[in-house]
Order: sequence, then C-alpha cells, then structure tokens
Amino acid sequence: MKLKLQKSSSFETQTLVVFVAKADKDKKPTAVGVASGIQELLHSASEDSVFSGDKKESALYRNVQRGGAKNILFVGLGKANELDSEQVRIAAAVAFQGLRSSKATEGALQLDSILKLFKKPAEVVEAAAEGLLLSNYEYDELKSKKNAKKKDEKKELVEISLLVGQPTGAMEGALKRAEILSECQNFARRLGDAPGNYMTPSILANEAVKAAKGTGLKVTVWDKARIKKERFGGLLSVSLGSHEDPRFIIMEYKAAGAKKNPTVFVGKGLTFDTGGISIKPSQSMEEMKYDMCGGAAVIGAMLAIAKLKLKVNVVGLVPSTENMPGGAALKPGDVFFARNGKSVEVFNTDAEGRLILADALSYGTELKPAAMFDAATLTGAILIALGNTHTGVFTRNDKLMKEIQDAADETGELVWRLPLTDWHVEDMKGTHADLCNISNNRLAGSATAAAFLEQFVGEGIPWAHFDIAGTAWNVSSRFPYNPKKGASGVLVRTFVALAERS
Ligand code: BES
Ligand code: ZN
Ligand code: ZN
Repeated sequence: MKLKLQKSSSFETQTLVVFVAKADKDKKPTAVGVASGIQELLHSASEDSVFSGDKKESALYRNVQRGGAKNILFVGLGKANELDSEQVRIAAAVAFQGLRSSKATEGALQLDSILKLFKKPAEVVEAAAEGLLLSNYEYDELKSKKNAKKKDEKKELVEISLLVGQPTGAMEGALKRAEILSECQNFARRLGDAPGNYMTPSILANEAVKAAKGTGLKVTVWDKARIKKERFGGLLSVSLGSHEDPRFIIMEYKAAGAKKNPTVFVGKGLTFDTGGISIKPSQSMEEMKYDMCGGAAVIGAMLAIAKLKLKVNVVGLVPSTENMPGGAALKPGDVFFARNGKSVEVFNTDAEGRLILADALSYGTELKPAAMFDAATLTGAILIALGNTHTGVFTRNDKLMKEIQDAADETGELVWRLPLTDWHVEDMKGTHADLCNISNNRLAGSATAAAFLEQFVGEGIPWAHFDIAGTAWNVSSRFPYNPKKGASGVLVRTFVALAERS
C-alpha cells in the first residue's frame, strides 16, 4: 500500500475520509474545508444520531457522489481541545478499517480539519501515516497458498492519499519518517508473530543480519562456543535444556564520531519460554512465542535509527535462547556465574529473562554507555499492575525518566514509572550465592525483577528497564492500529525517539 501527499483542492477519489471533532453540547458537528454536499450529509447523520464525532466512531455513506468522491466516510476525533497526535493515529486506523470495508482500492484522508488544530502540521502527517501503515500489517506468511490466493482475489487497498491545503517539505519529511518507523515496527511485529519453530535464536540472528544489509549497521552474531568463551553464564545456563543453540546479537551504528559514548539498547530475545524445569501450565503457553518481543523492539529500533540516518552512536544487544526442560536443563537450585562475576542461584527456571539479560547488561556496561535501556517481556506481575495499556518503567534516574516520558509523549506510547529501591534489592539476595533469581515473597514481582537486573548495570550508568509483558501483544482493543491478535511492536518508536535525544 502506497501513501501520497496531495493538494486537497478538486481531488477526486473513490472514498473520501472526513474527520470530524465532537461538537459542543447542543451544537451540530461540522467538517472543515469540505463541499456543502458533504456538510449536509454530516448534519443528517448527526440528526439521525448515526454519528456525533466521538473517538473511534465512523459512518460510511456509499454511492453519494459528493465533493469529488463516490463514497464518504466520516471518522470521529473526539473533543477538539483534547486532540493529540496519538488520537490522530487512532482516527487514521479507524479510517483504514472503514476504507477496507468500503471495498475501495484507493481512498483519501482530508487532513485540513486536523491540521488547523496543531502547531506542527508535520506531526499530523506523521501520525496519520503511521496509523494507516501500522493498520496495514498482517502476518499471513504461514497461510497455505490456497488461502493466500483467496486474499489476492479480495479487493486490496493499494493507495491512500493524504490531502492537505498546501503540501510542504516538512510534511514530505514526516511522511518518509512515518514510512521508516512503521516498516521497522511492522518488522518487529513479524519477528514476534512468527511461531517458535519458525523463530529460533539462529533464525532471529539471521533475520537481523539480513535486514541490516545496506543500512550502515554492523551486525555481529556470537554462537554457543563464543558465548561460553565470553563467560555469559546466564545465557548459557538458560539454553542448556534446548536442542537449539543460543545466540548473542550485537548491532552497532556509529554516526556521531568515535569519541561519543553510545546509547545501548538491550532486548530479551527468548524465542520460546516453556518455563524450563519449573514448567508453565499449558493454558496460553503458546503465547510464550512472544517472549522475544523486547529483542524484536531493539532490532526494529536499530534498523529505524540507521534508515533515518540519525547522527548518533547506538548499540543494540539481544541475548537469544529457548527456555526448555530436558535432561541437560538448568535445575532449581543450580548456581551459575554471570559475565560480571556475580553468582546467581536459580530457584525458579521460569524467571529466565533476567538471567540472559544479566550477561547482556554486564556486556553493555563494558561499552561505557552514555545511557542504557532494556526491554523485556519480563514478568506476569506487570499485567496485574498496569494491564495492557502502559509499559512499566523502572529507573532510579529522574533526569532519564523525564527524557523517557518526553520521548513516549512524542510517539504516543504509554509508559508508567514504578518503584525501584534498595528494599527490592534486599529481596533478591541469595542464600548460597550472591543473588537469587526470585524474591523470597511473591510481592512486587516486577520491581524485584528490575532490582535483579540492576545488579548487572555499572555504577553511575543512566539506565532504565521497560517491562513490556502487558503491551507487547494483543492490545488492539485499546489501540486499533494494532492487529486484533498478535505482536504490537511496542517501543520501536520510543527507542528511536530516545536515540534522537542522545
Ligand atoms: N516470560 C515470562 C513473563 C510473562 C508472563 C510475560 C506472562 C508475558 C505474560 C517470564 O519469563 C516469567 O515466566 N516470569 C515469571 C517470573 C516468576 C517465576 C518470578 C512470572 O512472571 O511468573
Ligand atoms: Zn519464564
Ligand atoms: Zn520469559
């Protein structure tokens, strides 16, 4: 599907999308810059109580032939004074779904009514384009040819025009940026949606290598022997029960001169988490193919940073393995030594994400990062605390938290800070080793996991941990540009925005 920026005057299209803000009490909703015939239609829609301009609301009028369009699709924006770029992204996703159901092969979004409400017009173009391109994602690689053919016969949306009074260079730039960000977020989703047998650690590493070709990214992949030689005791321990060898993926992008310390992104790349010997119940276990979504977010963000040609130094690190039971598997009570020399006793082999991140964070520390961020589907507890709207953020650094909040506000991704204190560190002390991988109570499970990770981050390094277990998949009920079921690609955009602030 192609997006084009076009002048709104006298534009002809199959289906025209008209965005409408919710009117004040006792007032009729009005559309800006549209033909009077469309305005009439809107008035009758509101009089019939079919459409009022509420968030996520839409009304399709077929074969009405007004304002140069065969069909008119009204899409609600909610209250004009509450409109932000995330609401534009959502409205564009609702428009996409309406365009699809109108069976149009081409359509146009009239953006003028939104543009007049924003200081930066490019922001509107970027959000609208992302809403459309993220909605167009579908994971159908594993459908049989027969079903794929059926899809070809369906009418496909091939082109959508974004209509503005006067296209500018800044708007064109915003469209290009949205294309890169959406492509890389969709790539991260694809890595997540691929099932465990199609997304092993070595496949994940190969995907990163392949996608990085021609982007200026340097990708290095360590195999099992190298992982052992480099004393990655956590990654190696978790991989013991699996027939699939682990991988450690290093992605480097240097465009800010050799002297500038890099920003390091670390992502949990657990391609399937059975729990290991502390095996999970079978109910919903298939969802554990998504346990590499932190790694996918890092790979997606690194690709986007390179494709956007940002003038920054960044390194992406993805420890990747399966977590399986088996004759050689790690056992409860086993002790290993992590890369930084600390010993860890493993009381629960299902708390494995923190074990593979321990080595990666230790290695990241050695790169003397200006800042380090990690993303992981780390705890079920974060779902209880925050549900599927907000990613949990843990950091002791207030300045870094402000940057994270600013970056997230810019991209529309929701984050929420939770506590990380010495009390949580105390809960993670070991009996016969330095640390234990689970706390001695079940309380504040996401915070104690963060406290464990902190033990592998060098003193003084600005660091934040993002727990995406609630936001990495099945979030479309809240955010309609996400697939009904499947990976969201969360944090790709916010990590890029953080790199831009480095
Ligand atoms: N991958 C899981 C976390 C998870 C659970 C993500 C549910 C998404 C949905 C992680 O490896 C895990 O199993 N964590 C345990 C930790 C516990 C044993 C301390 C958990 O959260 O139950
Ligand atoms: Zn687990
Ligand atoms: Zn896990």
